[in-house]
Amino acid sequence: MMLAPIMVFSIVCVVNCTGGYEKDTRVQCPHQPLIAVDGQDVILPCYVEPPINVITLTTEWSLNATLVHVYRNRNDDISLQDEEFRGRTSLFHERMESGNISLKISAVKKTDAGNYSCFLPKLHSDLKRGYITLVVEDKEKHGSPTDSCSNMGASIAVVSILIIMVI
Ligand SMILES: *[C@@H]1O[C@H](CO)[C@@H](O)[C@H](O)[C@H]1NC(C)=O
Ligand SMILES: *[C@@H]1O[C@H](CO)[C@@H](O)[C@H](O)[C@H]1NC(C)=O
Ligand SMILES: *[C@@H]1O[C@H](CO)[C@@H](O)[C@H](O)[C@H]1NC(C)=O
Repeated sequence: MMLAPIMVFSIVCVVNCTGGYEKDTRVQCPHQPLIAVDGQDVILPCYVEPPINVITLTTEWSLNATLVHVYRNRNDDISLQDEEFRGRTSLFHERMESGNISLKISAVKKTDAGNYSCFLPKLHSDLKRGYITLVVEDKEKHGSPTDSCSNMGASIAVVSILIIMVI
């Protein structure tokens, strides 16, 4: 009885999962904005799906027209990088074999906020580019006692309302 779905899955998988044709691969980034705190490190998590080895592919991270990080010929090319990001960015080279093209930015600044793009120009795909929005919050805004208190208050209020509704 359970065989039919398994067979359908297997057939779909034979068609889609084997071969690892680059054409079917795409750059994936989270749709929701990533929130970082001023001064802290952040990882912009993008990857190639389904995973293929991208160690030989050029990878360009940019913020608007600014080149944030360029990787090509199996190496980071800092000559093409904007001054603003000098010494603050890195890719996880050892993870690129499994399609991980996440970018780490150290000591994030307010001016780093914006719409980032991750571009693999040599990927044989219609989706060579992914976008992710970075939001940078003030240090003070984070973890201040009053803030967590009011959050706690709000949570208690929501829980109370839910309990009342259930009863
Ligand atoms: C890619 O690697 C980074 C660093 O190890 C990790 O934080 C991130 O979760 C990885 N992303 C995926 C999709 O595996
Ligand atoms: C990015 O470009 C848009 C449109 O050109 C502009 O409105 C925006 O201010 C720019 N953002 C940054 C962070 O430079
Ligand atoms: C980021 O920029 C791209 C290209 O201009 C656009 O398609 C996308 O909607 C933008 N994303 C956000 C969250 O602004």
